[in-house]
Amino acid sequence: MSDVMKAVRLHAFGGPEMLIYEDAPKPQIKAGEVLVRVHAVGLNPPDWYLREGYKMLPPEWQPRVLFPIIPGTDISGVVAAVADDVRGFAGGDEVYAMVRFPIGLAGESRAYAEYVAVPATELALKPAGIDHVHAAAAPMSLLTAWQFLIDLGHDEPNPLQPHQHAPVPLAGKKVLINGAAGGVGHLLVQLAKWKGAHVIAVASGGNEAFLRDLGADEFIDYGKISPESVVRDLDLVVDAVGGPKTRRFLPALKRGGALFPIFPLGFDGASEAKKLGIAVSTTQVRSNGAQLAEIAPMLNDGTIRVAIDSIYSLSKAKEAHERAATGHIRGKIVLTVTQEEQS
Ligand SMILES: NC(=O)c1ccc[n+]([C@@H]2O[C@H](COP(=O)([O-])OP(=O)(O)OC[C@H]3O[C@@H](n4cnc5c(N)ncnc54)[C@H](OP(=O)(O)O)[C@@H]3O)[C@@H](O)[C@H]2O)c1
Repeated sequence: MSDVMKAVRLHAFGGPEMLIYEDAPKPQIKAGEVLVRVHAVGLNPPDWYLREGYKMLPPEWQPRVLFPIIPGTDISGVVAAVADDVRGFAGGDEVYAMVRFPIGLAGESRAYAEYVAVPATELALKPAGIDHVHAAAAPMSLLTAWQFLIDLGHDEPNPLQPHQHAPVPLAGKKVLINGAAGGVGHLLVQLAKWKGAHVIAVASGGNEAFLRDLGADEFIDYGKISPESVVRDLDLVVDAVGGPKTRRFLPALKRGGALFPIFPLGFDGASEAKKLGIAVSTTQVRSNGAQLAEIAPMLNDGTIRVAIDSIYSLSKAKEAHERAATGHIRGKIVLTVTQEEQS
């Protein structure tokens, strides 16, 4: 077998044009790892944060990057080889994973490629009922939604706050999801509904039918109405847009309610939240093969549906990032690794 593969690499930070489709060394697996022949790659905001050099992070948080790097974390594919000490996976298995997040923030996840080495603990069997495109679209967004709403799944320190994040009860609760049409948001809507919440989805107007179909009970078009001006007595707001504006949701929450900013950087409402008796909590998603295995039956039977915004071939990663930069992503953007690229 050749020790060269096709991959998309960055040799410097910058815009989408910095994503170069070229030959790269095929990864060698170490103990505990599985080599996966990638069929599809799901895109996520950290892919463009890395491409741009994590400009949005404070300098002390910016990981040191050694070029060239292969971006990307989310894959679905077929097992090509397993290390001798790995149990539970065998050649030919269809698998999916979020690779090395957040430990690979400096570019060690290496998903935009024909082959990727994945720690077996981060891998799960792909749900047989969905294709590689939908499986690759799921991991980061779904693990984020799951770890915020259902089960954190680990006891590693939380880099974003002094205490661990803890999900709150959802059955019978009034839950608002902001950024509901995006990768994380459309899965938050479905998980909250699955747990019996009354879900209010906030997104741009064209997304109403999409979100009602996924189970949203109410819909607010943020282009027409400021959501915080028309909702009251919420039990939970999950803000998948986040940033400094998250604070505006505090008065719409009940005393004893909770605000979960998925993107917490810039949030400055801690003292107001304390006065209002609202718990604010966030976390950073972590790779977790056991959770992907636990959720797989729900993807398989359609309880959770992953929506696809658009599909590009691996060689068109630049165009996929240009699509992402135009915003208003509905569901997920996915790269496919075709047979031609794998020959
Ligand atoms: N904490 C973590 O570990 C973690 C994990 C994953 C993601 N994140 C962060 O979470 C955020 C969302 O990620 P994602 O993958 O879901 O991104 P995404 O797919 O780009 O989704 C963002 C969504 O927000 C919507 N939106 C934009 N402006 C809005 C507004 N003012 N009000 C309501 N909706 C608005 C967009 O569509 P419309 O405008 O058309 O409605 C889009 O659907 C990102 O900042 C990401 O970095 C954090």
